[in-house]
Amino acid sequence: MAFKKDFLWGGATAANQYEGAYDVDGKGLSTADVITQGSLKEARKITWKNPKTGETGYIPLSMNTKEMKFPEGAQPSVLDGYYYPSHEATDFYHHYQEDIKDMAEMGFKCFRMSINWSRIFPNGDDEEPNEKGLEFYDKVFKELKKYNIEPLVTLSHYETPLNLTIKYGGWKDRRLIDFYVHYAETVMKRYKGLVKYWLTFNEINCMSMMPFMAGGIMNPSPQNIAQGAHNQFVASALTVKAGHEIDPNNKVGQMLAFSATYPYTCDPADQIYVIEQMHNTLFYSDVQTGGRYPEYKLQEYKRNGIKLDDNPIDYELIKDYSADFLSFSCYSSSTVTTHKEDIPSGRGNFVMGIKNPYLKESEWGWATDPYVLRYALNTLWDRYHKPLWIVENGLGAVDKISSDGKIHDDYRIDYLKQNINSMRDAVNIDGIDLMGYEMWGCIDLVSAGTGQMSKRYGFVYVDRDDKGNGTLKRIPKDSFYWYKKVIASNGEDLTD
Ligand code: BG6
Repeated sequence: MAFKKDFLWGGATAANQYEGAYDVDGKGLSTADVITQGSLKEARKITWKNPKTGETGYIPLSMNTKEMKFPEGAQPSVLDGYYYPSHEATDFYHHYQEDIKDMAEMGFKCFRMSINWSRIFPNGDDEEPNEKGLEFYDKVFKELKKYNIEPLVTLSHYETPLNLTIKYGGWKDRRLIDFYVHYAETVMKRYKGLVKYWLTFNEINCMSMMPFMAGGIMNPSPQNIAQGAHNQFVASALTVKAGHEIDPNNKVGQMLAFSATYPYTCDPADQIYVIEQMHNTLFYSDVQTGGRYPEYKLQEYKRNGIKLDDNPIDYELIKDYSADFLSFSCYSSSTVTTHKEDIPSGRGNFVMGIKNPYLKESEWGWATDPYVLRYALNTLWDRYHKPLWIVENGLGAVDKISSDGKIHDDYRIDYLKQNINSMRDAVNIDGIDLMGYEMWGCIDLVSAGTGQMSKRYGFVYVDRDDKGNGTLKRIPKDSFYWYKKVIASNGEDLTD
């Protein structure tokens, strides 16, 4: 058998893309609540209002941080006339029993979800938590326990309480460390005995590309991005410390967006270029899992005149309380080159590269790479030798209900087969310590990149469209029954 007996098969979600109920039971607004829907061609928008002048507008949610400039006095706000998919999403808030039952029927051993920080601390800097918010997650964790499904909880998945962005400028301000740790301690104490696996920040390296999404940062200068990352590293270390003190059974992990990057040619210049690109990602795991700032980043900061607002104790904390395990998302690979020929470009989550002639692409242009999980697992294992966990992998596709009322998503099954085979090779051939596999968006939810509903990942279809219409009815897809067999056979039976 390739996978361990207690391998944590399951699926993953995030509150802002799944939960809905954005203003229910005392929840405050988060940064995700002011981001509109976009599409493959049109960027999502962050809407704003100037409370002094009454002026309104938007800026694009862009990976080009230079485009992310709010006008003077603008505050991210919910405006009339825009559609914000996080507001209702696919309404886990009111469907959690039904959805968890579906997960149990598939045989899930684990369910990755996030707690919405602004449901617990509506303004982020409140002293007392919102009891109603805490009660919601009490119910969810008890429901999971009923079916012996282990929760894996992300404390911050692309949402910061909006007040922390408006009042403090987001994670560039050191005061957020204390607000976050207070929040983390509150939920770790409350859910002691119900939750033991925690992740501090979803795709922490997204800070470099999307600092508003990852850290509520409105002015994404290189200095603010570096400071935002540093503050999150310190907050993560303090959360590992608190987690262990609250319950020695707690395991607090890092979550990284792993982008496998290949050179397009064998020109040595392309190999060096790949190393530099990989450093952009691995810097975040070198600090949070490896426990120290790597030299290449310190040199870069020196070259660019970046000076961190830090304390010597920060580096002690980072060293002493590195992550217990390293989890990551991985969907595809990207290919890069220093050659300027006219090669068509490729896409991925946060990574733009060029088209890899050996790989096919999804409707959203993400390359399907049958080797990528083995590549990712080896890279991370060789570097840190800490337990690894795949907490996001999957295929975003347009699903159609057939005339027989079913969803025949054989393309998703094909994608998952290739990826599970690749991760099995990493375990069988390379002997890597892998804790589990969580398929992204196990029940259909809103896309983070485009805000679309039509980019679906789930084993369960949810009746809702890009305009927010639909009954929210749940329908199992063909992949639902396939995954059930995969889990029952502990990954041995991948046949249709
Ligand atoms: C990851 C995020 O980057 O990729 C998720 O952690 C996201 O929040 C997932 O949904 C898939 O990306 P997208 O843009 O297709 O939703």
